[in-house]
Amino acid sequence: MVQSSAYGNGGGGGHASTAVVGIASLVTNDPAQGDGSPLGVIRDAALVIEGDRIVWTGEGARVPATDHVVDAGGRAAVPGFVDSHSHLVFAGDRTEEFAARMSGRPYSAGGIRTTVAATRAASDEALSANVARYLAEALRQGTTTFETKSGYGLTIEDEARSLRVAAAHTDEVTYLGAHIVAPEYAGDPAGYVDLVTGPMLDACAPHARWVDVFCERGAFDGDAARAVLTAGRARGLVPRVHANQLGHGPGVQLAVELDAASADHCTHLTDADVDALASGRTVATLLPGAEFSTRAPWPDARRLLDAGATVALSTDCNPGSSFTSSVPFCVALAVRDMGMTPDEALWAATAGGAAALRREDVGRLAPGTRADLVLLDAPSHVHLAYRPGVPLVAGVWRAGEQVVRAA
Ligand code: NIG
Ligand code: FE
Repeated sequence: MVQSSAYGNGGGGGHASTAVVGIASLVTNDPAQGDGSPLGVIRDAALVIEGDRIVWTGEGARVPATDHVVDAGGRAAVPGFVDSHSHLVFAGDRTEEFAARMSGRPYSAGGIRTTVAATRAASDEALSANVARYLAEALRQGTTTFETKSGYGLTIEDEARSLRVAAAHTDEVTYLGAHIVAPEYAGDPAGYVDLVTGPMLDACAPHARWVDVFCERGAFDGDAARAVLTAGRARGLVPRVHANQLGHGPGVQLAVELDAASADHCTHLTDADVDALASGRTVATLLPGAEFSTRAPWPDARRLLDAGATVALSTDCNPGSSFTSSVPFCVALAVRDMGMTPDEALWAATAGGAAALRREDVGRLAPGTRADLVLLDAPSHVHLAYRPGVPLVAGVWRAGEQVVRAA
């Protein structure tokens, strides 16, 4: 896999130590620290970064001596956001589709075809520049770990190059050849599944970590989704599923049965779906940007949390159903409309995203984790929902390096 310039695992800037002091409220997501809540909040805190890692967290009064000191000036600090679901390898624009939807036209999976045509026509350079642009946008809003997918190519060549482009920007790359049936196979959906599970998978598996399928009416049914996920798994890819976004269906339970890392969307759930998510280790990833941009009913995070499911919050950034790269925006929606507390939403956007990517090294701030840190121009993380739409991100460190500084 190509190492990332911006979102990969590499990096680290030597061995000098830097203390960040003057943190009014530090969310660690380590219940062993601070107030003992799931967020492990330390008041009047400090932390120490060495190379690309956190080496110390605690009360500011006890911070050890370091080579450098940065004063957070009484701001809040949270782990970098982990956006575990996006579709950034695309070209073209669907402004008109959005505008038509806002005047009453319903959203359907068919809009994806518009982006497929534009993506096929684009050069590798144009696709890569687009990914870089949205990753930079996300980084400015505090996202330090980013998953992204293919799914707008739908030929062997276009899917494989989409994944190569993605892999140049992040280690979390997902093969979504089964986004919709390619237009050339409109009369032969079974033939398309054979392609996706055969020669297309051969070309794509070396470039990806995950395999995904849009299991939905109008895209792939339960049998086709099972075939795609099990074929991917046999090639070493780990399943994740677009499940139950537009209506009820088999996606969520299939995801749990196959021990997928994540069932994404989870908008239309039966009690059996909720029970399945609560009993397995598949994370329920909620993507409220999609409901916002398609005027769909909100996913019920409260129901999932009360049942004991693990919930992640992500953007689903894509040109059709959710053209936002802003995790803070999704946090605000989740708190306002999906029954999450500010603490639960922050956890879901950090540790929850890490769980959906089966990562232990991100989404938390404790000795040994990657030094991915966001400073907020606010006394606590609650302001992410309390002050919706306000650019609160005042500083971002990724793998120990400060990559965003407030003007
Ligand atoms: O996650 N649901 C399938 N895929 C995207 C939408 C893609 C599009 O409309 O271009 C989603 O919402
Ligand atoms: Fe999606």
